[in-house]
Amino acid sequence: MPLVPPYIESLQPYQAGRGIESVRRQYGLSRIAKLASNENPLGASPKAVEAMTRTFGGLNLYPNGGLELREVLAREFEVGVENVIAGSGSEGIMSNIIRAFLCDEDEVLTTEAAFIGFQVLARSRGVTYRTVPYRDWHYDLEALAAAINENTKIVYLANPNNPTGTIFTRHQFDEFYRHVPERVLIILDEAYFEYAKDNPRYPDSMHYRYDNVITLRTFSKIYGLAGARIGYGFAHEELIRNLLKVKLPFEPSTPAQAAGIGALADPEFLHRSLEANARGLRYLGQGMEALGLTVIPSQANFVMIVLPSEETAHHIFEEMLAQGVVVRPLGAFGLGNCLRISTGTDEDNRLCIEALGRVYAANTGAIRAG
Ligand SMILES: Cc1ncc(COP(=O)(O)O)c(C=O)c1O
Repeated sequence: MPLVPPYIESLQPYQAGRGIESVRRQYGLSRIAKLASNENPLGASPKAVEAMTRTFGGLNLYPNGGLELREVLAREFEVGVENVIAGSGSEGIMSNIIRAFLCDEDEVLTTEAAFIGFQVLARSRGVTYRTVPYRDWHYDLEALAAAINENTKIVYLANPNNPTGTIFTRHQFDEFYRHVPERVLIILDEAYFEYAKDNPRYPDSMHYRYDNVITLRTFSKIYGLAGARIGYGFAHEELIRNLLKVKLPFEPSTPAQAAGIGALADPEFLHRSLEANARGLRYLGQGMEALGLTVIPSQANFVMIVLPSEETAHHIFEEMLAQGVVVRPLGAFGLGNCLRISTGTDEDNRLCIEALGRVYAANTGAIRAG
């Protein structure tokens, strides 16, 4: 089909994790633990839902481009409203960044097996996409700095990273930043910021308001609003001004914007979610290690396990699915021998370890030694 450019033809359509209903129907199960998409298992912030519901009477009116949310965020984070953008999830803003700043000859640089959403968006622009391998499942910032060339326009860093769950530290970022020319835009994707922010080694990018750094955050994770599609970003006013030129004018939707504002006013839900996640990470980590699995220590709301082969990973994924536990195979990210498992409710986490234990018991030895 000559109408389709080769860089679009070669993309794989996004494959979402399996939905609860389809797994329930396929296996005739009553209880499903969906641990595939790093969602908040406690649901959404009740204040967000309330605020969203209040907008329903005005759905006949067009939204205002996220202005109220931008104002709230500007106050909360002590920046100007001209330094804030709101959009349809942080991926919506990422897509604007790709459209606003990349020219045909520019290159994008990131880690191997980066967040799949970014991979797809960058590749769909048809520019050169270069990667550097992980070092011990962390971004290798030294190698990334060394790989910057005269065509590099964007460096994408997710911190904490998806799918590994690891972070780079303040010190590492400071060192890296010293080597990045001002003409290179750094996207700091902090979708999992709230889970890592209390780690003293974590570099909260609001302390790095450099002119060439864009911070992206989202309400999809800790605030439990993945279905509402609402995210935000902070950057120099010149960058935001140009992003606003390409952003679809009526993103985010009115209910999504209200949900974001409501969520910010709900510290109790945030606190409860953080506690449940910390409990989940501990439980899953200990349970998996007791089975002899290789678990990467995580600063987010999921863990990654490394298995001896792609076949083993696929087998475990299928076996767990049949027991009602949906986890995420990482072939699409480029890590076919790994699985990513989100923290769930206490009950979900128990089901997960029990299911893994049964798979393990039936395959002694085969899944050890990742
Ligand atoms: C690193 C990272 N960035 C961005 C996103 C997308 O977030 P949003 O729902 O705000 O588009 C995700 C979601 O999984 C993610 O893991």
